[in-house]
Amino acid sequence: MKSWSYQRFTIYEFSELESTNNKAMDLVLSRQLFDGDVVLANKQTGGKGRDGRQWISPEGNLYFSLILTSSTAVEKIPQISFIAAISLRDSLEKLSSKIELKWPNDVLLNGKKLAGILLENDSRNVILGVGVNVDSFPTDVIFPATSLKEQNLEISREELLKNFLNKFEINYQNWQNFGFSGIRNSWLRTPYNLGKVIEIRDGNIRQRVIFKDLDEEGNMVVDKDGEMKKLTMVDVFPV
Ligand code: BTN
Repeated sequence: MKSWSYQRFTIYEFSELESTNNKAMDLVLSRQLFDGDVVLANKQTGGKGRDGRQWISPEGNLYFSLILTSSTAVEKIPQISFIAAISLRDSLEKLSSKIELKWPNDVLLNGKKLAGILLENDSRNVILGVGVNVDSFPTDVIFPATSLKEQNLEISREELLKNFLNKFEINYQNWQNFGFSGIRNSWLRTPYNLGKVIEIRDGNIRQRVIFKDLDEEGNMVVDKDGEMKKLTMVDVFPV
């Protein structure tokens, strides 16, 4: 393991981990890592996605977890995934103008999934896990994926991580000082399928709705047969 610093962050780099999120949580609970520390791995043997899914993690892609320790109210913690999504988008925009954000927190490139975000927390610590398909992407997935390489975009993992941390710090401070509205406005600059009919899936239940808005808390507002509804957690698909 080697470590290096960038701005206020210290990056602990491992060649292989089960999951950077698990490692970060273990090390924060045993008081070996703290706020602003980042666990980075070249590959993961048990990478985790949202909803108990796997995140296939071969060498060549970016896998990291940022530790955030603060007194954030627990109901505001999900907003951090939007801060991560806009920061990732902002750090990729100089490479491509075809980045969109899919609610709640996927980053798409050319309409396909490029990156995923997994937030885990206990009462004090948030582990913000980010995976970016730099070199390769999975094919056996519920939503089509892509990689930077497939789209002929080139950036090193280290450069991308630094870009992300730089943008994240600005957006996170903005959020801590002024709340979610600036984050929401930024997210709404590049939304995937806003105003369109989408299919939402919650377990086995599938419904067609119109994606109307992102509300002031980060919920998705949809129109279901003329009735406005707020959703906190579902998967979104095109129809
Ligand atoms: C998703 O879209 O389902 C979220 C994927 C999150 C993957 C990242 S890779 C680094 C960190 N460690 C994990 O085990 N998962 C996250």
